[in-house]
Amino acid sequence: MAADRNFLIIGHRARTAPDWKLDDLCGGGGRLDVLVRCVTAALWVSHGLRRDTDAWLLLLGPPAPPVAVHFAGKTVRYLNPDERSTAALVRNGLVKLRNRDSVEASPGVTLHRIGLVELLARLPPAVLLDEAGDATGFPAAPLTIVLSDDRDPTEAERAELESAPRVRLGDRSLLSSACITLAHSRLDSA
Ligand SMILES: C[S@@+](CC[C@H](N)C(=O)[O-])C[C@H]1O[C@@H](n2cnc3c(N)ncnc32)[C@H](O)[C@@H]1O
Repeated sequence: MAADRNFLIIGHRARTAPDWKLDDLCGGGGRLDVLVRCVTAALWVSHGLRRDTDAWLLLLGPPAPPVAVHFAGKTVRYLNPDERSTAALVRNGLVKLRNRDSVEASPGVTLHRIGLVELLARLPPAVLLDEAGDATGFPAAPLTIVLSDDRDPTEAERAELESAPRVRLGDRSLLSSACITLAHSRLDSA
């Protein structure tokens, strides 16, 4: 079961095999650095975790996309605020996934071989974070806030999200992880 507040981050180049090094998240990992920063922004507060929030990373890079990595705020363990150890949880998950359809790789970290369409069908209603969006507020929870990595969503992804409200957080294009912090702030004070 999904949390009330979900963040789904589309990783267009993120590798779907555990063949990268923890000191090469940007290159070999296919910009996994962006995605693991998003996990930190989605789940961490000072000295603790948001137990009402889940983070979903959609890995779309070679060699076997798609893979969705689910961090469940309610049950996750061994999650630390640094990029490297979160990336290690993802890599460990890819090792354990191997030829399976899904696996709980560590407590609260589950991997599934599903793509955007199936994820959107399973999760609460989606909102797309978009620099060109026409909305500035969020609908009430439960909701799924979708954002992209360092690349814009593709036309096909935009088509899948056609019915989702598009929320703009300001005039400048921001880091994905910063968008998550801003979204939390707005939802926390709503
Ligand atoms: C780094 S931006 C995407 C790349 C950027 N558009 C570019 O090509 O330079 C990452 C994601 O954060 C979200 N985002 C960034 N700035 C935003 C803003 N001002 N309002 C809403 N969403 C934003 C969008 O989902 C975007 O796809």
